[in-house]
Amino acid sequence: MTTRLHTGIIGLGAIWRMRHKPALLKLQDRFQVVAVCDVNEQQAKAEAASLGCDYTPDWRELLARPDLDAIHLLTPPDVRLEVIRDAANRGKAVYCEKPLALTLAEAAEVVRVVKESGIVYTSEFVRRFFPVSRHLKNLLQEKLGEPRLIVGESHGAAVGGPGHWMRDQVRSGGYTMDFGVHLIDIFRWVFGHDATAVQAFGGRYSVLDHPINDIEATAIEFGADKAAHLLITRAVPGEAFSPAWKGPVALDRPEFVIYCEKGLAIFEPMKGKLAWQDASGGGQIEEPLPGGPQFVLIGEVMNANFHRFAIEGVKPEPDVVDGYKTIEVVFYADAARREGRRLEIPGGS
Ligand SMILES: NC(=O)c1ccc[n+]([C@@H]2O[C@H](COP(=O)([O-])OP(=O)(O)OC[C@H]3O[C@@H](n4cnc5c(N)ncnc54)[C@H](O)[C@@H]3O)[C@@H](O)[C@H]2O)c1
Repeated sequence: MTTRLHTGIIGLGAIWRMRHKPALLKLQDRFQVVAVCDVNEQQAKAEAASLGCDYTPDWRELLARPDLDAIHLLTPPDVRLEVIRDAANRGKAVYCEKPLALTLAEAAEVVRVVKESGIVYTSEFVRRFFPVSRHLKNLLQEKLGEPRLIVGESHGAAVGGPGHWMRDQVRSGGYTMDFGVHLIDIFRWVFGHDATAVQAFGGRYSVLDHPINDIEATAIEFGADKAAHLLITRAVPGEAFSPAWKGPVALDRPEFVIYCEKGLAIFEPMKGKLAWQDASGGGQIEEPLPGGPQFVLIGEVMNANFHRFAIEGVKPEPDVVDGYKTIEVVFYADAARREGRRLEIPGGS
């Protein structure tokens, strides 16, 4: 019989409703939600009623429960260190949304408390775990050779309405922090190397009354012979982020183009697509997760992994250092953008 992980959910917003709630309801043999928490007490009460569990508006109260093995931390990124520290002190496993923190100092402190306590910690870098992502690794090894340059792009509508945390630079860290960390994680994962230097550009050009940069471009070096170019735009006035939003065709660009020694790959994990070309021709694979929208279904994969890490002692992937290394790139990119120059990342290897 599978051992169930007793978890408490902190933060009951969009990502809970769209991804984690459907996943945990599917994985009831592996998870029992014992309590939910949101500062919006009405929301917490309604979720608790729908799940048949307890609720509280105070995460400290949730973490003090003796029947808890784990937490899902699904709040905006300005609620991280204090909660993770408390969970670490109590020996609870943590599944944390990205990004891991909003400053490099806070990210380093999260790494320290997780390592010293020895708790299981994993985060939400979903793109590594789609079926086509496995094919990509094989393709690089068997056909295309060493990856040298990755162009990663993310485009869409401006996120959130007035007052939404995403429109507050201090609460969200901007779009490279919020969306870019997913792509930076894939750069590291494909290259097998940490970033060593960055140059960056950004500003407000399209949605002039938008409070944070609507374009951010970052050139990232990964050692002497590998680089990535990251382009994030949220330059179209529009509705809040929704997986149903398709956007005009012109913005429907491949998320990753990976230029290798012997060819190139177009890698679109969220669509379940991988295409490639080399001197002998090319090919393509379409392998979406079976049974519905990728954005939602990946929650099942990620939570099944979390269960294995917490119950079977399997080493978490991604782990807390992966979270830190993405924040490090964002931190240096912000500084490079402000200073208008290339910055080396100390200790990048
Ligand atoms: N992995 C992905 O693809 C993906 C997609 C969307 C969002 N996210 C991440 O998930 C996180 C949450 O995003 P969202 O879109 O669900 O945000 P949201 O604003 O829809 O929901 C956040 C919820 O957290 C609650 N909250 C805030 N502070 C709290 C506190 N101190 N204690 C308890 N509850 C608190 C809010 O009341 C709200 O209900 C963010 O870090 C975001 O970057 C990840």
